[in-house]
Amino acid sequence: MKSTVTAGMLALGLALATAASAQDQAAEATAAPAEAGAAAGAATLPDGRDIAPAKMENGRWYTEDDIPTYKIEADGTVDYATFSGYRRYSAECHVCHGPDGEGSTYAPALKNSVLKLDYYQYQEIIASGKQEGSLVMPAFGTNKNAWCYVDDIYVYLLARGTDAVPRGRPAKRADKSDEFTAQEDSCMNG
Ligand code: HEC
Repeated sequence: MKSTVTAGMLALGLALATAASAQDQAAEATAAPAEAGAAAGAATLPDGRDIAPAKMENGRWYTEDDIPTYKIEADGTVDYATFSGYRRYSAECHVCHGPDGEGSTYAPALKNSVLKLDYYQYQEIIASGKQEGSLVMPAFGTNKNAWCYVDDIYVYLLARGTDAVPRGRPAKRADKSDEFTAQEDSCMNG
C-alpha cells in the first residue's frame, strides 16, 4: 500500500506566492517577513499530498511520510539535493524531456508527471523504463549517474511542478553536507 498522505499545513497558493516573491526580491531577501520563512517549502500538491519538508536524513529532506521533498528558503536558496537534481536532470534526462522539466515533442513534461505520479510510480518508471507504442523511456536502474540521484531529480521536478523554483540553474543553493557526500560515495562506489 502507498503511504497515507494528509492535507498539508499551508495552502499551495501561499507557498507559491512566497516562492515567487522570494525570486522577485532576491536582492532584498533579508527583509522577508517571518511568515514567508515558515511558508517557504511548505505546500500540498493539487491531489492533497503533503510535500512539506519535515526531517533531514543523509543530507536530504523528507516529508512526515518519508517521501523525498525540497526545501526552499525565503531568500530562494534551494537545498543541496534540489540543486543536485537540477544538475543530474540536465545531464541525464534533458536530452529527451526538454530543459527544466518542461517536456519536448518526444517525451512528457516531468514537472507535471511528478504531480500526477506518486513517488513510487516515478521510481519504478526510472528503474525499469516504460514503453507505449514507439516511445521508449529507457531503464536507468543500473545507471549510477541517474539512479544514485533519482531522489534529487524527483525533488527538483517537484519544485519545478509547484513553481517553487524558476527555470534555469538555481541561483543560490545550500552547501553540500558531509552526510550527503557520504551517501553519494557509498551509492556511486557501492
Ligand atoms: C532516450 C530518451 C529519454 C531519456 C534520456 C529519459 N526519458 Fe523519461 N521518458 C521518455 C519517453 C519517450 C517517455 C514516455 C514513455 C511512454 O509514455 O511510454 C518517458 C517517460 C518518463 C516518465 C513517465 C512520465 C509520465 O508522465 O508518465 C518518467 C517519470 C520519466 N520518463 C523520467 C525520466 C527521468 C527522471 C530521466 C532521467 C534520469 C529520463 N526520464 C530520461 C524518454 C526518455
